[in-house]
Amino acid sequence: MSGKVSETGYKELRASTAAINDFFDRVGPRFYSLWFTLIGYRSSLKHFVRLNCNRLGVRKDMRILDAGIGTGFLTVSLLKETPVPLTIVGLDFSSGMLLGLNRRLTKLGLEGQVKLHLADMRRMPFANETFDLVVTSAAMEYLPDVSEGISECCRVLRPGGKFLFIATRDSFMGKVIAATWRNKILEPGHVESCMKRAGIQRVNALRFPWYFPHVNWWGMALLGEKA
Ligand SMILES: C[S@@+](CC[C@H](N)C(=O)[O-])C[C@H]1O[C@@H](n2cnc3c(N)ncnc32)[C@H](O)[C@@H]1O
Repeated sequence: MSGKVSETGYKELRASTAAINDFFDRVGPRFYSLWFTLIGYRSSLKHFVRLNCNRLGVRKDMRILDAGIGTGFLTVSLLKETPVPLTIVGLDFSSGMLLGLNRRLTKLGLEGQVKLHLADMRRMPFANETFDLVVTSAAMEYLPDVSEGISECCRVLRPGGKFLFIATRDSFMGKVIAATWRNKILEPGHVESCMKRAGIQRVNALRFPWYFPHVNWWGMALLGEKA
């Protein structure tokens, strides 16, 4: 693991999300993995990636960032379900989640394909326009202001690069998830307008495969492109 945001900036940022950071450090990825595997989220992502590979523009040697990588569900799906060899940069502010993920990647033999950074996704230690594809799943709904995370993702994305935003949406099931996992529920229209304000255009709503209807009850997926 490497990478840290500057101490001063980090202290201020951490103050606004300290409880969430501590929550994930304590819970670690094991319980989260179990819960979201049981409700079908892990498999739905696998199928989602397989079906949307072309839309995501996946190609060899592209630079990919998973912001709020946590358990790595989405990263592992990208590594295993796309036809080209990929390397992915994963960022998360919970050392507990990253350590657990590191163990899991080693077990899967994927550790050489993922570079992990401990940092806050509202101030990422990457230069402007570093990545060709930025993805985030079930992470931005932990920010006090989702637009901050979206703008930061857009900053590190190159013009023409794609941005995939997956999160819990406002629905009955979304509320059940939020009650257990301390996240917010987001309104797709609001997220879309934040994306557009940040410079992401051609935003399309994608569905999880029809054979995972329950994931569509609480999940939303928006894909756009940086102007
Ligand atoms: C519910 S988990 C989701 C993990 C994974 N992306 C997935 O789909 O399974 C949310 C993750 O977002 C991370 N997170 C929340 N706020 C963050 C922030 N401000 N900066 C970086 N990571 C954050 C948490 O530490 C946690 O690992």
